[in-house]
Amino acid sequence: MKILVLGGTVFLGRAVARQARDAGHEVVCAARGESGEPVEGVAFVRVDRDRPDGLDALDGTFDAVVDVGRRPSHVRHAATSLRGRAGHFTFVSSGSVYADAATPGQTVATAPVMAPAEPGFDDPSADAEAYGRCKVTCEQVVSGTFGTEASFICRAGLIVGPEDPTGRFDYWVRRHARGGEILAPGTPDERVQVVDVRDLAGWIVQAAERGLAGTFDGIGSPVTRREFHAALAEGAPSVHELTWIPQEFLAAREVAPWSGPRSLPVWLPLPEYAGFLTRDDGPSIAAGLRTRPLAETVADTRSGLRDEPHRIGLTEEEEAELLREWHAR
Ligand SMILES: NC(=O)c1ccc[n+]([C@@H]2O[C@H](COP(=O)([O-])OP(=O)(O)OC[C@H]3O[C@@H](n4cnc5c(N)ncnc54)[C@H](OP(=O)(O)O)[C@@H]3O)[C@@H](O)[C@H]2O)c1
Repeated sequence: MKILVLGGTVFLGRAVARQARDAGHEVVCAARGESGEPVEGVAFVRVDRDRPDGLDALDGTFDAVVDVGRRPSHVRHAATSLRGRAGHFTFVSSGSVYADAATPGQTVATAPVMAPAEPGFDDPSADAEAYGRCKVTCEQVVSGTFGTEASFICRAGLIVGPEDPTGRFDYWVRRHARGGEILAPGTPDERVQVVDVRDLAGWIVQAAERGLAGTFDGIGSPVTRREFHAALAEGAPSVHELTWIPQEFLAAREVAPWSGPRSLPVWLPLPEYAGFLTRDDGPSIAAGLRTRPLAETVADTRSGLRDEPHRIGLTEEEEAELLREWHAR
């Protein structure tokens, strides 16, 4: 097959291109070439989707397209210009489209989505809601242009694994590799849900091959935080000990959830986000998604880590201070 990846220079897009190439497909990646490099062995077409003529360099036909875009203008332009020239369109959407982040165990069939972005609104980076609403618009544009029978809307959950540019999962892999007393947020029985980038990419390639259509969550199975940390500890070189600290204590000391400086990544306040990382993966498994053991994702992430300065999460000093305060309470 001839597969066009709109993107393909970072993380998921690169993983899709790599797996499509390895499966023997002819792969074309199209991007500006600013965020990173495409993998070897694929064609690269330089395009700038901010420009009205930005996709003119993409001529010919494609059996399938994969788009990781977030701006409605980009996705509208791509879907319109590729209509009639591509047989199948995968749009990589996000779990951020859901209106209700609090109810655990939801599926695509049961969960309402947010309203689309206002017409003309095109800034998914404004805030989390804008991002979700722009993704809703993009989904509607793709399904409306390619038809529900030729579009695969893949609502990705938290994507982790090698080459992750966000540093969220890396924080935990690095932290466990360092060992010692580790501050674990929340309680051991809370649940968390991630998907390995390679599993998601493999499913997206398979969807193109099979012509899978419809809307699905691209998610792994939920695990407890106890299991999450056990997988992180597997194969870590140092001994470690977890100290669980409840969210009230952390919030009172201005530890941020999810990401950013002075944060505990992949941790979200409850009960507001009790449904965000606890979705039901049954329908996606039934549609062909296969996920590897978390410990394998951890091991491969660890071996791909580069020696980079601290970017997100707690610094060693911040974590030590919080642990001191916790024990002294
Ligand atoms: N990470 C997560 O946990 C997570 C969770 C849920 C959903 N998602 C979704 O999953 C997808 C992740 O995709 P990804 O990992 O490949 O990263 P990404 O950061 O979404 O990649 C964007 C791609 O688009 C290209 N691009 C950006 N602006 C462009 C422009 N003006 N013209 C042409 N190309 C442009 C970039 O390359 P250049 O900059 O080189 O042009 C890059 O290849 C996204 O759809 C994201 O919304 C991610």
